[in-house]
Amino acid sequence: MNDSGRGADMPPGFSDDFRDALDRLFVWRRDVRHFRTDPVDPAVLDRLLATACLAPSVGLSEPWRFVRVEAPARRAAVRADFARCNADALAARTGAEAARYAALKLAGLDRAPHHVAVFCDADPAQGRGLGRRTMPQTTTWSAVMAIHTFWLAATAAGLGVGWVSILDPARVAAILEAEPGWNFLAYLCVGHPETPADSPELERQGWERRNPARRAWIMR
Ligand SMILES: Cc1cc2nc3c(=O)[nH]c(=O)nc-3n(C[C@H](O)[C@H](O)[C@H](O)COP(=O)(O)O)c2cc1C
Repeated sequence: MNDSGRGADMPPGFSDDFRDALDRLFVWRRDVRHFRTDPVDPAVLDRLLATACLAPSVGLSEPWRFVRVEAPARRAAVRADFARCNADALAARTGAEAARYAALKLAGLDRAPHHVAVFCDADPAQGRGLGRRTMPQTTTWSAVMAIHTFWLAATAAGLGVGWVSILDPARVAAILEAEPGWNFLAYLCVGHPETPADSPELERQGWERRNPARRAWIMR
């Protein structure tokens, strides 16, 4: 290990066993909405957030901003915003479709022991603008990659993550007093999953199915 404790002098040799385990990680990573309420070891949560910051980013801008929301009043305000947005989404559907939507559980905000809001600094000084001139959205994509890295690392640690997007971004930014220029991307529920699963909850509930074709187009 070098001084940073992160890397090694030699590139790692990834074994077949590791590759098999990694495949299982991808299969078992889930969007979790049912949590146990016991907290995660704080050192583990810190490590996962540090791991998330190993994600690639445009121009090495590292535009992700993770905010751990601990204040009960702010959590309650986010929950209330979810309830409002979810009620609006339900009202926009009719008949059987509305009944099916109403039956879905679309957030674990009530029981998850940890809430992490993720913002993107849309125009960070870091990276000095490299790679963003023609595609300014690349900061957003970079921050989403950090979220995915966090999601996988959490799964590997036996934890669940649930991404909540049924929220009003401006209201969440106000509740959390986000810095100017920070765009709200995701509100993550984090904790121990009640029941690990190898298929999406929306699939198990009959809402949608994974596309079995998994096709890539070939351009010749
Ligand atoms: C950008 C994004 C937003 C999402 N928002 C929500 C949400 O608001 N509520 C929810 O229950 N799931 C949300 N999900 C989770 C998806 O429903 C889930 O990833 C999908 O059904 C596949 O399931 P899996 O992640 O367990 O494989 C979101 C996922 C992504 C990537």
